[in-house]
Amino acid sequence: MFLYGPQTGGHTADARSCGMPSPPPPAVRVALPDGRGYAVHFEPLASAPRHLRTVGLEGRALVVTDETVGPLHLDALADALRADGRTVAALAVPAGESSKSERQLAAVVDWALGQGLDRQTPILALGGGVVGDLAGFAAATLLRGLPLVHLPTTTISQVDSAIGGKTGINHRAGKNLIGAFHQPRLVLADPATLQTLPDREFRSGLAEAVKHALISDADLAERIGRDWAALTRRQPDVTAALVREAAAVKAVVVEADEREAGERALLNFGHTFGHALEREAGYGALTHGEAVALGMRAALHLSESLRAGRVAGPLTAPFDRADALVARLAPPPPALDRGRLTAAMQSDKKRTASGLRFVVLDDVGRARLATSVPAPFVQAAWDFALARPAGGG
Ligand code: GLY
Repeated sequence: MFLYGPQTGGHTADARSCGMPSPPPPAVRVALPDGRGYAVHFEPLASAPRHLRTVGLEGRALVVTDETVGPLHLDALADALRADGRTVAALAVPAGESSKSERQLAAVVDWALGQGLDRQTPILALGGGVVGDLAGFAAATLLRGLPLVHLPTTTISQVDSAIGGKTGINHRAGKNLIGAFHQPRLVLADPATLQTLPDREFRSGLAEAVKHALISDADLAERIGRDWAALTRRQPDVTAALVREAAAVKAVVVEADEREAGERALLNFGHTFGHALEREAGYGALTHGEAVALGMRAALHLSESLRAGRVAGPLTAPFDRADALVARLAPPPPALDRGRLTAAMQSDKKRTASGLRFVVLDDVGRARLATSVPAPFVQAAWDFALARPAGGG
């Protein structure tokens, strides 16, 4: 189990040594029709009772967390809820992607039904993307839909997965094949929880923040580059502000295309390549964010080839600057067979009947979908992203 280790102890000390705490960044609003809009707050977990009340959620709460996050953050949440006069029941599932399973879904459902539910009982998902997807799917289906509150504790879930209503579990045939759209009633992303993340996981989530900037906010990309040192030191005010801006990009995309009929697919920038890398490297060898970072490098090269109308050589402006940012998050590329990677892309669930679909950039901050991409462009994109430095291993 991960507790405050030497690697993150420094970050926690940083957070405490900054003198007066900065005010939290303003909430992001996700505007959806039919009264289904909600706020994403960037405040301490202890503010949960106030925010629950604001959205009409009174009384007891059922918290789903995992065995890593629970010991770190459940007490802060449960103490605040109890101090507010609420009863709290909590279940911790094993940490990790393997909990997005029918088995753990059954465990959550059995446990929740054992608490004696009614349709107003909220499910609070305290954790990263796995807990959010699993608890969210349970909330979507129990009694045909319980109120869901996301309390994301990882970079990736604060900027991406807790916003937009995607919930689900994996099937042996593939990831996220069983699920539902179920929008939360509120999201409370406590910036302090990011201080307890292992460094690899923190940086992995930054890949999704960089992705949001590259697809639709060139200014945010500039700021991430400028504030890089403070961000990777997890300086609290800088981190909270950038996470908030990256979350705001997600909110705008979800508002425009809640069910992924079009624009929401742009959030898959780097993912067609990235999912193939994850799969071929063996799940768990690369984090999702690492695979997406390498995938974005490939997608940038593809963007350059499509702009040039021929197989591109080295990247030119502005894709070279974008790549310099992404490359900071990319791990040493694994040695993988390009043909197998391309075959793995063909089985991605996001492909369309007409073939592979890639998200490419026309400019930093301007993304579009590309289909009918020439095979040599894809090959060159793999070669670019997976090139090993001369003399490197
Ligand atoms: N993470 C991609 C989406 O929510 O659509």
